[in-house]
Amino acid sequence: MRIDVLTIFPEYLAPLDLSLVGKARTAGLLDLRVHDLRRWATDRHRTVDDTPLGGGAGMVMRPDVWGEALDEVLGLGDGGEPGRGPDHEPDHEPSGVELLVPTPSGERFTQRTAERLAGVPRLAFACGRYEGIDARVAEHYRGRGVRVTELSLGDYVLNGGEVAALVVVEAVARLLPGVVGNPESLVEESHGVAGLLEYPVYTRPPVWRGHEAPEVLLSGHHARIARWRRDRALERTVQRRPDLAAALDPATLDRHDREI
Ligand code: ADE
Repeated sequence: MRIDVLTIFPEYLAPLDLSLVGKARTAGLLDLRVHDLRRWATDRHRTVDDTPLGGGAGMVMRPDVWGEALDEVLGLGDGGEPGRGPDHEPDHEPSGVELLVPTPSGERFTQRTAERLAGVPRLAFACGRYEGIDARVAEHYRGRGVRVTELSLGDYVLNGGEVAALVVVEAVARLLPGVVGNPESLVEESHGVAGLLEYPVYTRPPVWRGHEAPEVLLSGHHARIARWRRDRALERTVQRRPDLAAALDPATLDRHDREI
């Protein structure tokens, strides 16, 4: 998979050299390129923003700078010639790249989104700062046949899209074949197909500072352990995430589950 990240703070993306994502890059499983948006700014001060049309606080990122940057990075050529616009047919094959724009006003990013994105051959992130990117940028690339998805991590506001891009890259990269050493560890984790949070986990020693690990986990009885884990997963989900519990498919719950 190839991922491009466009930002005015390339240093923010430095953690992508570390850990599993860093190893995936070294192993050639992930081709990740970070670009400084100011490279496409044309004035002496490398300006990327301007005041909002209609007035108001803050600054808005300029469509002309984003347009030049995205045309080059997405490999789409110049989209700005007269007569071209979102109402015209794209003059190229759809590029197979999906443009992701992190923003608190986007659709919610979930494990399902990560699973879908893991199947897309090329992703590009446009990381906004200030009050965001001029809305015509997303509209323009949609008009040129690019799938554009505005994504929100959750109902809070970050200073820009960089941290969100880090989160999305990590969530997607760990789903790529070969990135997580033991793929079985992806099966039972939180937000998997069952729609449950993960059960609590323990390791040695069996007693630590007077706290005992659950006895069943030392029993070697696989069916009982599986039942115990499912019960704890359900219990946690009901207590901590009533929204997820309410969305569980009743057909997948057995009688024992219903007693939790
Ligand atoms: N940029 C600023 N806040 C954000 C959020 N909550 N999710 C994604 N991108 C953002």
